[in-house]
Amino acid sequence: MTKTRPNDPCWCGSGTKYKRCHMHKDRLAALDGDGTQAEPDAVGRPPVRPVQKGTVSPRRSVPPAIMRPDYADIGKPQAKAPDAIKSPVQIAGMRKACTIAREVLEAVSAKVAPGVTTESLDAYAHELCVERGVYPSPLNYFGYPKAICTSVNEVICHGIPDSRALVDGDIVNVDVTVYCEGFHGDCSQTVLVGEVDEKSRKLVSVTRECLYEGIKAVQPGGQVRDIGRAIERVAARQSFGVVRAFVGHGIGETFHMEPQVPHYYDHAARFELRPGMTFTIEPMINMGTWRHTTWDDNWTAVTADLLRSAQFEHTILVTERGVEVLTLPPGEAQPCDF
Ligand code: MF3
Ligand code: CO
Ligand code: CO
Repeated sequence: MTKTRPNDPCWCGSGTKYKRCHMHKDRLAALDGDGTQAEPDAVGRPPVRPVQKGTVSPRRSVPPAIMRPDYADIGKPQAKAPDAIKSPVQIAGMRKACTIAREVLEAVSAKVAPGVTTESLDAYAHELCVERGVYPSPLNYFGYPKAICTSVNEVICHGIPDSRALVDGDIVNVDVTVYCEGFHGDCSQTVLVGEVDEKSRKLVSVTRECLYEGIKAVQPGGQVRDIGRAIERVAARQSFGVVRAFVGHGIGETFHMEPQVPHYYDHAARFELRPGMTFTIEPMINMGTWRHTTWDDNWTAVTADLLRSAQFEHTILVTERGVEVLTLPPGEAQPCDF
């Protein structure tokens, strides 16, 4: 019997395409009891789990002279979220944190290559943060064990750096957040590892486009839902899935605060965008279903069908005229007037 392909009608007779119906259940069922067998994904590679999951090294420390967020020792944020509109002084603080976050992200991304472990990327990021006198925000945030997130292939987000070496053909999202002088700056990008197949490259370029279309939809007086509407439009053209469970977020003195920024069109997301607000836009776009499952580490979110997922993230500032990207890579032009 030939295998049902994603765009074929489902074998169950529902009349729905296989990929929208039983495909992800079948793929999960293909993982046997102890999770040692896995179907290759659409580009013919085994998923990260369970075949190649690595082990996580012990937690690193940050020198006490570096200013720490309130959760650094106890694992739980305490501060109540500050006002959504920032003063010029706060905005200056955001600019600095965001500039350093981007610097670290670029340096770590440059180390991505076949054979490199995600753990070594984390160690490097940690060192770069310490050198710059900033705290890596994820470290002990709700108990998260590492300085950055590294999300490989079917991992959607919150991948924990481990001993697995990157393989030629992988894609990996590197997500860097730093806490600098009382402010968090947050950005991420998906990096190609060696020679990557065309479909995955398409996923990555479309995801980047989703982020930039989302940014262009931001305007003072507009609403949060404008962002998801713009993103969903781009993803839908390729029938890619837009992750719904993880959203962009307000950011500043606290890592995550209001507003929540869905990357799909949510009619109810009428929160008004006003000058002085800073938040992230960080679409996670999947080759297949938007649904996810979580590893038993309670962090790693993977696609339910084990097809690949990509993500890009910026921290942005709403201005009087439009929007300014605070985590822009050096040399890149602002996407909008600001
Ligand atoms: N940087 C991620 C974001 O974009 C959050 C990571 S939280 C962690 O919001 F605890 F997983 F690190
Ligand atoms: Co992030
Ligand atoms: Co974020």
